[in-house]
Amino acid sequence: MKVPKTVRVRANELHTQLHEHNYRYYTKDDPLISDAEYDLLLRELQDIEAEYPQLISPDSPTQRVGAPPLKSFGEVRHEVRMLSLGNAFSDEELADFDHRVLEKLDIGCVDYAAEPKLDGLAVSLLYEDGKLVRAATRGDGETGEDVTQNVRTIASVPLKLEGKNIPDVLEVRGEVYLSHAGFQELNRQAVAEGLNPFVNPRNAAAGSLRQLDPGMTAKRPLEMFCYGVGKATGGSLADTHMEILAQLRDWHLRVYEDVRKVNGLDGCVEYYRYYEQQREKLPFEIDGVVFKVDSLALQEQLGLVARAPRWAIARKFPAQEKETTVLGIDIQVGRTGALTPVARLEPVFVGGVTVTNATLHNQDEIERKDVRAGDAVIVRRAGDVIPEVVRVIREKRKKGTRRFKLPKQCPVCGSHVVRIEGESVARCSGGLICSAQRKEAIKHFASRRAMDIEGLGDKLVEQLVEKDLVRDVSDLYGLSADDLAGLERMGEKSADNLLQALKSSKQTTLARFIYSLGIREVGETTAQILAREFGDLAVLKKVDFERLQAVRDIGPVAAENIVEFFREAHNREVIEKLTDKRKANIHWLAEKKPKQQPLAGKTFVLTGTLSIPRDEMKEKLQALGAKVSGSVSKKTNYVVAGENPGSKYDKATALGVTVLDEAACNELMSEAGDK
Ligand code: IVH
Repeated sequence: MKVPKTVRVRANELHTQLHEHNYRYYTKDDPLISDAEYDLLLRELQDIEAEYPQLISPDSPTQRVGAPPLKSFGEVRHEVRMLSLGNAFSDEELADFDHRVLEKLDIGCVDYAAEPKLDGLAVSLLYEDGKLVRAATRGDGETGEDVTQNVRTIASVPLKLEGKNIPDVLEVRGEVYLSHAGFQELNRQAVAEGLNPFVNPRNAAAGSLRQLDPGMTAKRPLEMFCYGVGKATGGSLADTHMEILAQLRDWHLRVYEDVRKVNGLDGCVEYYRYYEQQREKLPFEIDGVVFKVDSLALQEQLGLVARAPRWAIARKFPAQEKETTVLGIDIQVGRTGALTPVARLEPVFVGGVTVTNATLHNQDEIERKDVRAGDAVIVRRAGDVIPEVVRVIREKRKKGTRRFKLPKQCPVCGSHVVRIEGESVARCSGGLICSAQRKEAIKHFASRRAMDIEGLGDKLVEQLVEKDLVRDVSDLYGLSADDLAGLERMGEKSADNLLQALKSSKQTTLARFIYSLGIREVGETTAQILAREFGDLAVLKKVDFERLQAVRDIGPVAAENIVEFFREAHNREVIEKLTDKRKANIHWLAEKKPKQQPLAGKTFVLTGTLSIPRDEMKEKLQALGAKVSGSVSKKTNYVVAGENPGSKYDKATALGVTVLDEAACNELMSEAGDK
């Protein structure tokens, strides 16, 4: 069937528009239209192509869904070898690199282009006349695999370049990777389907790209950043790396925004330090930063050694995953009686610290990972998170190891262990007769966000419970200087300070007091809601389930726990001792119910670095009635983004949630406050 001119013109228009919207959404992160509008345009083009298949071209925006499966990947010979990078694991090694560069060039200082080292896999994209004609993995640097059909499904890879002076043949290189959010989503699906989860984002990205069925790759949220050019003919490239990256951006290729020109070794070290800090906040994994001599002429002079250029280096972060051995598995009993299995490890330096313990979470996790005493395991420690066992190296398992089972009795008090249907946590049923639970309850009570008793650290609490000086939290306020004198590491001065801290903690707020009681599922926010709603402890003590359920943001589980807690005679007694004027005399000012709550019903999420601590911003918003949540969903009204926002920012833009900067948020609050 011949294609009518009007249809051909419309198809062309749709091509242009869809390429542009795709670019705005995936590369610039700055969409012009909603997802629904985009879908409408795409549908229109799909309908036209269904009627006139001769209009389907490889660079059509409809061709991202995946071509038919392959039997195997073809081979691709790289015309210009894909090199790897030398590594520097310390500032000294980085200084050695800089020294070698300067010596060979015989100059005093050079500019480097500094960029993050993405942890994915290297891919080469070949564009001819601006059209993507081939994509290949690095392979051994000389030959790779032809993954063209799979790479076509990656939304941030342009099928067609835009802009001026595009070389006739342009081979671009970059890293294909999965964001943390994409990785988690993929693993959530894998577990739901009964499959083994991927061990890290890099393996998941590699596995996703090397699917023989491009339709499978299309379902994986792969992304790509470009970091260099292999070959360019029939056009001119700039003569510095920084300018080349700017050209790539102009041609609609995706290049990381914070690639910086830095001066000399000092500039490199400063960039490295900055990314060491930022690493945890980035929406994707990086394993270091890369420095490249900026001038291509100087690069040329420096040349290569073996498989790596002399003009570039990767300054690597300390590894976050390391192998070690499980010496044994212990059980920790928490404040609410939750039993947590913990692996005792052969000490190992990982993520910048020496790790001796790693959490195994719960029985389900242990079963899934089948961690046993004696096993060789991979341990991961990233940022401030608790170290965890990622997986067992099964090939190294020795004979005679046994599957681990949670005990039926609490290892601390001997009470039986219960596990409620549908809950992953097993608990000691001993309540306050269990000294482990008592210790944890006291630590929680004294903690900074609860009663804030300075100087009452973990070690001290343990001694107080072991010596039977403190049975419940109210006993803290009966402690004397004599009681404290006999304790380890307790001088006269620190005893004095502690007594003073106890005294000043008596003046508090109702919200803090409720939080400090450690009622299950009642965190800081819920405690604040309860304080605001009921205003008086006497009222809260008598409240029933229905009344609690009527309070916004109090779920059935928290409501049940609250009622249960106040019904328990022992808890009432402790509260009595804590608040009685003649006893501990903990007191607070009457809760003022704010007259107006102009932001009631609005949910905010905070991300990035603000000029004031996040907690402070949270309190300000809450004071106006807003809810502050930790994760972005369709229900979020505003995301407040400070400097270097994290993945929440990406999620907000993807979901079309309004993003405010700090100034706009302050404005919104002051407007709301004026109403
Ligand atoms: S440049 C001539 N830049 O690291 C240098 N590589 O060990 C070639 N990588 O295979 C690579 N981020 O997969 C370069 N900003 C970046 C990079 C980067 C990640 C990977 C790439 C390469 C490996 C080198």
